[in-house]
Amino acid sequence: MKPYVICHMLGSVDGRIKQNIWGFKDHHKYFEEPASKIKADAWLVGRKTMQEFCSKKKYKLEKPKEKIAKEDFIAPKVAKQFAVVIDPSGKCFWDTNMVSTEQVIEVLSADVSSSYLAHLRSKNVSYIFAGKKELDLALALKKLNKHFGIKRVRIDGGGHVNGSFLKAGLIDEFSLVLAPLADGTIGAPTVFEAEEGYGKRKATHFTLKSVKRIYKNFLWLRYITVKDKKIKR
Ligand SMILES: NC(=O)c1ccc[n+]([C@@H]2O[C@H](COP(=O)([O-])OP(=O)(O)OC[C@H]3O[C@@H](n4cnc5c(N)ncnc54)[C@H](OP(=O)(O)O)[C@@H]3O)[C@@H](O)[C@H]2O)c1
Repeated sequence: MKPYVICHMLGSVDGRIKQNIWGFKDHHKYFEEPASKIKADAWLVGRKTMQEFCSKKKYKLEKPKEKIAKEDFIAPKVAKQFAVVIDPSGKCFWDTNMVSTEQVIEVLSADVSSSYLAHLRSKNVSYIFAGKKELDLALALKKLNKHFGIKRVRIDGGGHVNGSFLKAGLIDEFSLVLAPLADGTIGAPTVFEAEEGYGKRKATHFTLKSVKRIYKNFLWLRYITVKDKKIKR
């Protein structure tokens, strides 16, 4: 079964997502507080976004004595919720298998080395394989449900991971906290980074589920993805 997927983001009015020049004092709350109101068994991020939460230490990878088979590794469940990272070549290092109160799951490609798998096992970090070179995100979602019982996933960015799930048609809902500012940085990541240039792909349409004014000048917009091919405007 594929879990229900809600993508949640904080964006400027021009769709930028990096807060480098936004100047908010308590910048985490604008994302976190609305996010905490979205029911989910797991949150999922891209490797770049997870870099903020994983180890800052430089681990020296040791070659294991025996080659480790490229098979899913499911550590015993120790938390109610999970923190999932799309990390195809194994760049995140861990001191523990938790981010705050959530248990870590790595989504890997077959590209990873045995020594990286040994690192994950040494910290009891669960991992699943979802493809050889190109990641199969639908398979990753199915495995999250099958191995961990995850029924609802909140995708928390960044733009590349959101764009990949959007392009694969796997997003059921989109939740956007619209910050009252224009960023204007050319080349900065945006809410959805799916593809360069205009190819055959069509835009994804949404219907409005709710709109709420929050923190005086912010809007919290919630959308449902239109899955039908025929779109009524
Ligand atoms: N405003 C917000 O709400 C919000 C929320 C989250 C993050 N952010 C910000 O967004 C920025 C990062 O966003 P980002 O778009 O640059 O990066 P990202 O989506 O966090 O991570 C991108 C990386 O994830 C891996 N990845 C994602 N999709 C993949 C796929 N389909 N197949 C294979 N690998 C895939 C790749 O890792 P490899 O490079 O290792 O191959 C890719 O480079 C940060 O500054 C963060 O603070 C903002």
